[in-house]
Amino acid sequence: MATKDYSALQISIAEAERIAFNIYGLNGKATILNGELDFNFKLSISEKEAYVLKISRPDQLLDYLDFQQQLLRYIAQNDPNLIVPKVVLDQNGNAVSHYLDTHNQTRYVHLLTWIEGRLWSSVNPKTDQLRYDLGRKGGLLTKALQGFDHPQAHRKIDWDNAQVAWTFDYLHLFEGRQLELMQHFHAKIKERLPQFLELRQAVVHNDLNDNNIVVDYNLKTPQVVTAIDYGDAVYTPIINDLGVAGMYLPMHHADPLAALRSFIKGYHESFPLEEAELDCLYISIAMRLVISLTKATINQQEEPENAYHQISTRPAWEVLEKWSKINEHLATCHFRAACGYSPSPDADEFADWAQSQNCSLLDLFPTIQKTAVTTIDMGMESTIMGNVSDFDHADLIQFRLNELQKQVPETVLGGGYLEARPIYSTNAYRMEGNSGYEYRTIHLGVDFWLPAETPVHTILDGEVVVVYDNGNNKDYGPTIIIKHTYNSNKKFYLLYGHLSAASLKQVTVGQKVKKGALIGWIGAPHENGTWTSHLHMQMMLHRLGNTVDFPGVALPSEQAIWASICPNLNALFKIDGLKSPVIATNKELIDYRKQHLGKGLSLQYDVPIKMVRGNGVYLMDQYGQRYLDTVNNVAHVGHEHPAVVRAGQEQMAILNTNSRYLHANINALAQEIIETLPPELSVLHFVNSGSEANELALRMLKTATGQEDIIASEVGYHGNTNACIAISSYKFDGKGGQGAPKHTHIFPLPDAFRGLYQGKNTGEQYANHVLEQIEKVHQMGRGIAGFIIEPIISCGGQVELPKGFLERAYAHIRAAGGYCISDEVQVGCGRVGSAFWGFQLHDVVPDIVTIGKPLGNGHPLAAVACTEEIANKFANGMEYFNTFGGNPVSCAIGKTVLQTVKKEGLQANALEVGNYLKEKLRALAVQYPIIGDVRGQGLFLGFEIVDAQKNPLAAKVAYLANRMKEHGILMSVDGPQYNVLKIKPPIVFNKENANELILRLTKIMAEDFMKN
Ligand SMILES: Cc1ncc(COP(=O)(O)O)c(C=O)c1O
Repeated sequence: MATKDYSALQISIAEAERIAFNIYGLNGKATILNGELDFNFKLSISEKEAYVLKISRPDQLLDYLDFQQQLLRYIAQNDPNLIVPKVVLDQNGNAVSHYLDTHNQTRYVHLLTWIEGRLWSSVNPKTDQLRYDLGRKGGLLTKALQGFDHPQAHRKIDWDNAQVAWTFDYLHLFEGRQLELMQHFHAKIKERLPQFLELRQAVVHNDLNDNNIVVDYNLKTPQVVTAIDYGDAVYTPIINDLGVAGMYLPMHHADPLAALRSFIKGYHESFPLEEAELDCLYISIAMRLVISLTKATINQQEEPENAYHQISTRPAWEVLEKWSKINEHLATCHFRAACGYSPSPDADEFADWAQSQNCSLLDLFPTIQKTAVTTIDMGMESTIMGNVSDFDHADLIQFRLNELQKQVPETVLGGGYLEARPIYSTNAYRMEGNSGYEYRTIHLGVDFWLPAETPVHTILDGEVVVVYDNGNNKDYGPTIIIKHTYNSNKKFYLLYGHLSAASLKQVTVGQKVKKGALIGWIGAPHENGTWTSHLHMQMMLHRLGNTVDFPGVALPSEQAIWASICPNLNALFKIDGLKSPVIATNKELIDYRKQHLGKGLSLQYDVPIKMVRGNGVYLMDQYGQRYLDTVNNVAHVGHEHPAVVRAGQEQMAILNTNSRYLHANINALAQEIIETLPPELSVLHFVNSGSEANELALRMLKTATGQEDIIASEVGYHGNTNACIAISSYKFDGKGGQGAPKHTHIFPLPDAFRGLYQGKNTGEQYANHVLEQIEKVHQMGRGIAGFIIEPIISCGGQVELPKGFLERAYAHIRAAGGYCISDEVQVGCGRVGSAFWGFQLHDVVPDIVTIGKPLGNGHPLAAVACTEEIANKFANGMEYFNTFGGNPVSCAIGKTVLQTVKKEGLQANALEVGNYLKEKLRALAVQYPIIGDVRGQGLFLGFEIVDAQKNPLAAKVAYLANRMKEHGILMSVDGPQYNVLKIKPPIVFNKENANELILRLTKIMAEDFMKN
């Protein structure tokens, strides 16, 4: 193919500025804008005044320019609220001017007003809300264009999907996979073109690509201002306007259909789309992709220097590849759902027909003679499924079901349609969505929990279409699908899953079966995909291109779509026990809580989450969506660790009482703790919370010294009791607080990054402030009871104590006759990695160590370890009694937690993964300097977001935490100015989890709102 002389067409910036001056009398600075045919410049006159200067190619038709200008005027007249560029007349009053270029060719020139904003292509992130807004504005534009016409609207134009046939001649340009894709779509397009050309037509913008959409400057909730560049407007099926945007919106998105739904919804709201149009949207998007890629390939050969042709080539191929894997019917269901039509086009007709059906369990399972169903809850909150370690225990689940069955011998245990379930735990159920992972959890069939070998019979006449062993672990196992016909030519399908191997020989593909025919038997776990015996029965109105199976579970975000394609089997049976469950909304929970639970009890996140399950580093909401938990240092060895759960359950089953009786568990737990501590700390008291531990520790100090005065750190937090609040600057210096009480003395937060003293070697300077407080107490004629601090100050924002600080502070306190408490409630039990206890990061031994959160892995268990000297002084005759502290259940749990840390090498894991993560965070900080400091030890880390002058950027941190939540990662925010993100996950957190955290952080750090 001959290469055109592109350089002969090009126009320099200086030339553009000269043209603007000569023709419009405008003296401005020109900058180059993208353009496929025209040469476009932004002409800036002043900060407030700018234009778009458009210079045509030599072969441009005047009539075509007139078309564009009339179109702009028509929109402006029809909908004055729409923002569109205005035509600016030249010095002689002409809308279109011309001049002769250096090659003596006539070039047309016109000028439009500049619309302020940013191009869609530069906006990050492109949220559903923004896509919805684009849809709405796009629809309004189409509405405003209704009735407009012009001879040029009917011109021949390669970019019109209705004229796509020209691309069929260029197949020879492609090879390999690209050729395969082109052949595939050419065939599809040829098949659909006649139907497509029957669609409603009008003049539409026809080029809603991401360099033609202007967005405002709001970085958090941006809105679309308008579409620019009307050069491709054409009279064509209206759906093409969405077909064009539909090519661009999915780019760089993992889930193309999800990227389109909100856009289509918005469009439909302002310009209602017809069902026939939605039926052709998939093919319209394919047409645009084919045109665009064919065009880019041709242009690439003709004008290799014009980079614009290549801008969207790679992502377009990626979208085409994904498009080829999306079933067209399924895509149409998504589009219909977005517009509020029933997602499956057949759903309404099927529902009408099904009303007349009355299938019976006697048809399906004639050998068991039962007609009713008792609904079994296998959902996210079900206790039948138990701990995650029970899931693979088919016999155990069978035992529990047998117990339930005994209570209702006359009915079949069943149900589960649209139930969100926890059991689909393998990665086969996980998919990358547009905001992190999503999990297919919504069950689309109905289960009948019956013994293996139960015969299964057909419930209607039909034809066998699948007989196949889907033999992967946790798959369907032996599967039969039968096709049924209704209303003479409509089809639906019934899938029978988890059958026995023998069932595969009972029927054959193509076989016609009569209602009541034996088709197979329920399978046993060894043959049915390793499930507890049951029949999974699912109805489908379409097979969506599946050959041997069909998805049995769906994403919660797509529930309505799948429920329409797979109606409840109960449409045929009409049995109460098979109705789909009504899921209570979070609103009820929130409203009750607001009214009846403590008013100061806050909820996390703008949209609170209901958590119903935990497993390792994950928490799960009621829809089964998993959240990577980097907040919960309480679930130390992992949420619902099977060994810990078992220890609690087993002890709970035999005895729980107070610690006044002898019991091996309390001694065993004491021993486990003592083994981790220096020999000086040899006496334990058990309590129920970190607050109670510090409360007791304070009482000990005061009893042992006879003094009242405590020295504590600025922004420290030590618990919620009276005495703990009285030493917690985080509380009494914060909202609702009333400052330090008389006996509390606060020294400055020893923060070497943004504190009073910064940089290395600040330990002594901060310790001098401890001394200063001691002297102040002495000056008042009182003595020191003690000193309390966390080894890494958590609420202060994961502040590591400067080197040498603790050693000096302890020395000052002890010289004044006081005792030292190390509050290990947050950091203890191996979390800091290089040591088991936080104080061991320094060369000190405290007099008292308080232990809380991690010790019970979520169970309320805490402890105070102290020296024999303090223990003796505290035992002054007054009895110490604690109803719950040290009970056998708590101690069984605590012992198992500490043994698990050892057995699973979790301290070493905290060190290795913590260091790995810290290194990755530091690399991220190089890329994004607003990460001012990365600090912490092991899996107790934090990073601080500041500007170049170290001013805290709390709004960015709040944004980041919220966006991370939207990507399925929980993070907490802290620090006196709420500008520190904390990372303190269960210490089973592994490198894969760290990588996921970094992956999502990296994505969100690049978003517009995070830019400084
Ligand atoms: C350092 C520290 N000490 C004590 C406590 C109080 O523990 P609890 O909430 O178990 O009473 C907390 C709680 O967050 C804490 O962070």
